[in-house]
Amino acid sequence: PVSKPIPHPPIYPIVKSVLSLDIKRPVQSMMALAEKYGGIYRLEVPNDSLVIVSGLEYVQEFCDEDRFDKKVFSALEKVRDLTGDGLFTAHTEEPNWGKAHRILTPAFGPHAMQDMFDKMYDVAEQLCVKLERLGPDEPFNVPANMTRLTLDTIALCAFDYRFNSFYKNEMHPFVEAMLFILHEANQHMRRLPIMNRLMYKTKERYNKDIQYMYTVAQKILDQRRKADKAEQVDDLLGRMLEGVDPDTGEKLSDQNIIYQMVTFLIAGHETTSSMMAFTFYEMLKQPHILARVQAEVDEVLGQEKLQFHHLSKLKYMDMVLKECLRLWPIASGFNLRSFKDEQVGEYLIKPTDSIFIFLPSLHRAPIWGEDPKLFNPENFSPENEAKIPPSAYLPFGNGRRSCIGRPFAFQEAKLAIAMILQRFDISLADPNYELVLDETLTIKPDNYFLKFKKRPGFK
Ligand code: HEM
Repeated sequence: PVSKPIPHPPIYPIVKSVLSLDIKRPVQSMMALAEKYGGIYRLEVPNDSLVIVSGLEYVQEFCDEDRFDKKVFSALEKVRDLTGDGLFTAHTEEPNWGKAHRILTPAFGPHAMQDMFDKMYDVAEQLCVKLERLGPDEPFNVPANMTRLTLDTIALCAFDYRFNSFYKNEMHPFVEAMLFILHEANQHMRRLPIMNRLMYKTKERYNKDIQYMYTVAQKILDQRRKADKAEQVDDLLGRMLEGVDPDTGEKLSDQNIIYQMVTFLIAGHETTSSMMAFTFYEMLKQPHILARVQAEVDEVLGQEKLQFHHLSKLKYMDMVLKECLRLWPIASGFNLRSFKDEQVGEYLIKPTDSIFIFLPSLHRAPIWGEDPKLFNPENFSPENEAKIPPSAYLPFGNGRRSCIGRPFAFQEAKLAIAMILQRFDISLADPNYELVLDETLTIKPDNYFLKFKKRPGFK
């Protein structure tokens, strides 16, 4: 077939198409470009040629794993300084990806999730105690505190470590180091190579922080090894230390376990916290949805303390969370590459192209009804969910490289939201709040404050 050139915004010398992007609002500008250039367009940036894809007919082809695979693109390549061949940053063909995938998949299975319930409850209880002590008039910074919740939860569930973020204003030094490294990995990609070479101080801190994180992780690992058998915990770390790969008969190396520990912290906190923040935002925007979620919590829990078996009964809350990730896919997309030249529709794709499956536009396609921009949990009623076409809804990525933490994120969010709504009535701190997105590669509501008032009926 004859190939047509992929549509693209104007390309200039040196800056290429960067002028078409608002660097402070990458997600919103890519959405605007998708409206202008369509479901597939090329975006030339100084070190890369991106193909931004959001048209369902193209996405379905790109999700064919025999023809396309995850690409560890430039910013992720830099994060490998910290997470090496951990699950998120590994190339699929690296042996440690398959090995860790096989060992860790059961560690996120239904049994493991049930085992993690008490620890998730422990941290969510700390949040509720804080809300109660704060009282009904104090504005509460939702994204910041949801991040405390998710960071503490993943560290406690993954390796039985307490950051105790609810007891401090500053972040734990381990978390500070992690945030600095991620920020620097992101900035590194945007600077000219000469600038990067000249930033001695930054480079020194970057390397020191990485070493510091490894030292802390190694200490946790050593302590666990030394502990009596009675003290061995069946958490993610326990499973990584003991797990044997069914294919090779091998265990994970200490180095790789440390990469995974850091990977879980990175992948497991900001995404889930933003999902919860957006869920509160959408529920408050349409109070009848909030009322229905709270009524469901009352019906399932009454005055009882939340237990594991309650969670699967919160079916409407499930629909609300799924709809939240449709309208606000926290990870705005994922990168792919082809193994060889591929024809997709009328376009030729080269193995050197960086394909970016762009979710905010995919998830607002006409298949979502008359007003795809409307938050409507009914999109995920059992009847409607069964009708969603393949590859039309991909908040957790695609195929073998999709998110391993999905059940973890849903359990953690449902548990916390149920505990909050059982005990508190929530309202906007500023009734005139207009949504402002805080965008990096992920999105979250900026400057979002709520008030939490103890419910009269709750003992
Ligand atoms: C992969 C989204 C929560 C761990 C991914 C990918 C997406 C994603 C889109 C695919 C990335 C790619 O193809 O490059 C999300 C969202 C979450 C969430 C929206 C919350 C709402 C979590 C949690 C954990 C986690 C809680 C850990 C506890 C991972 C890991 C991978 C991954 C390890 C890499 C899997 C592999 O390639 O083998 N996630 N994630 N995620 N996620 Fe999540």
